[in-house]
Amino acid sequence: MAQTPQVIAVPGPGQAAACDALLIGAFRGDEGLDLPPAAAAVDAALDGYLGRLSEHGFAGKAGEVVVVPTLGKVAAASVALVGLGSASETTPHTLRTAAGNAIRKLADQTEVASALHDGFDRRDEAIEASVEGLLLGSYRFDGYRSDPRPQPLQRLLLVDGSETPMAAATARAEATIFARDLINEPPSALTPTIFARRAREVADVAGLGCEVLELDALEERGFGGIVAVGSGSAEPPCLIVLHHVPSGASQEIALVGKGITFDSGGYAIKTWQGMETMKTDMGGAATVLAAMSNIAQGRLPLKVTAYLACAENLISGTAMKPGDVVRHYGGRTTEVNNTDAEGRLVLADALAFASEAAPDVIVDVATLTGTIHLALGNRLAGLFSNDDSLRDEIEKAAERAGERLWRMPIIDEYGKTMESQVADSKNTGSRYGGALIAAWYLRNFLAPGISWAHLDIAGCGRAESDYDEVTKGGTGAMVRTLIRWLEMRAQR
Ligand code: BES
Ligand code: MN
Ligand code: ZN
Repeated sequence: MAQTPQVIAVPGPGQAAACDALLIGAFRGDEGLDLPPAAAAVDAALDGYLGRLSEHGFAGKAGEVVVVPTLGKVAAASVALVGLGSASETTPHTLRTAAGNAIRKLADQTEVASALHDGFDRRDEAIEASVEGLLLGSYRFDGYRSDPRPQPLQRLLLVDGSETPMAAATARAEATIFARDLINEPPSALTPTIFARRAREVADVAGLGCEVLELDALEERGFGGIVAVGSGSAEPPCLIVLHHVPSGASQEIALVGKGITFDSGGYAIKTWQGMETMKTDMGGAATVLAAMSNIAQGRLPLKVTAYLACAENLISGTAMKPGDVVRHYGGRTTEVNNTDAEGRLVLADALAFASEAAPDVIVDVATLTGTIHLALGNRLAGLFSNDDSLRDEIEKAAERAGERLWRMPIIDEYGKTMESQVADSKNTGSRYGGALIAAWYLRNFLAPGISWAHLDIAGCGRAESDYDEVTKGGTGAMVRTLIRWLEMRAQR
């Protein structure tokens, strides 16, 4: 497990911060660099060296970073000057991405100080964005190397930092890192049973209630989707339920996560290339677990219940076959015409079960379809909903979190391509608009009147390379959006 660095506020000025490297921001000015006060003071201590870098190609554009040794003129051994673009256009989002990119350039430093938030009007937001960027950008997963290269960053010093935004940002980064760690774990080291154990540990630490419905209970109570998907594996499936029950909560929210710990496709077997990254297929459940841990530790005054539908989708003599009909929790039936559309089968049970408690809202998160990956690429989640105001809320939460998503429609005519001769529907229909069809399918399992949103993170759940605050591998996408959304809900 990756160890999150300590985040410590230190008094200014920046030139007095003893550390390996001091990060300072530079805006792009009309002529040369526009240095905010903390950077200008460091520049003066360095005899104006930083300001003159504009004559050597450093313009202060967002994304630029230059690291210079200080030769003892300030307390830090080196200074990293980080371009932030023109001051009038820079947002906290620019700061988060710039911080993420900059910290990777300081690969071997154990103690880093940051004054990146200096010069921002919305100071707390700037502190939050820079802390998130620095902690998330420095993430590494190396638990399985014989020569571990642990993350070198041990301490992050925030020059003139304030505790409240630092603590909130650190908690959100830690939640995201926790989700990344779970996703990056090899599939045999994170089976449904092990996932349940991990969830119990989190619940104990965070003060959440936790029950795990194991195979017997799932069979007995009619969770046919989860049972069918898990039936090809020696590892039994489970449904993990977590409860955050603060006193006096006026709203009730349900979160649902797809927890396929490995997706081979079943008899609709994937190619080896398609299967290579399918340990990521529990990313939705990881996101939900991480967000639950955060809101419980923050004692958010909302009643929240999480449902993590976990199974391994494998092939064997007992696996589900194309043509099988499953009966979901609540009684609706599905003809499985494609064993690789397994995520919706487990989510169907979980959504029907979550609906029974009549929450005000249900949000599910799932690495559901390859088509959302084709449509929106690697960086955006697809947002589906049956409620426009909920959609607005989640969009706003993502904006605040610095994560990206895009509104997608649900089209009845497309959904109807799943019509079955023998059951209420098949589990797949037309190839075209596959992500929309999947959302249509899920909507059928909600009790009438429940407002619901579905986040398809099949594209953004995993990164092919490092960029901004995102690191290659499991991304923990939508952890911060869920946390922000729940915080917004608690305030209204
Ligand atoms: N887990 C996959 C979706 C996925 C694809 C996640 C790529 C991450 C990256 C899902 O279970 C799946 O296989 N979906 C099928 C659905 C199809 C059979 C209708 C797909 O997208 O191909
Ligand atoms: Mn699949
Ligand atoms: Zn899947």
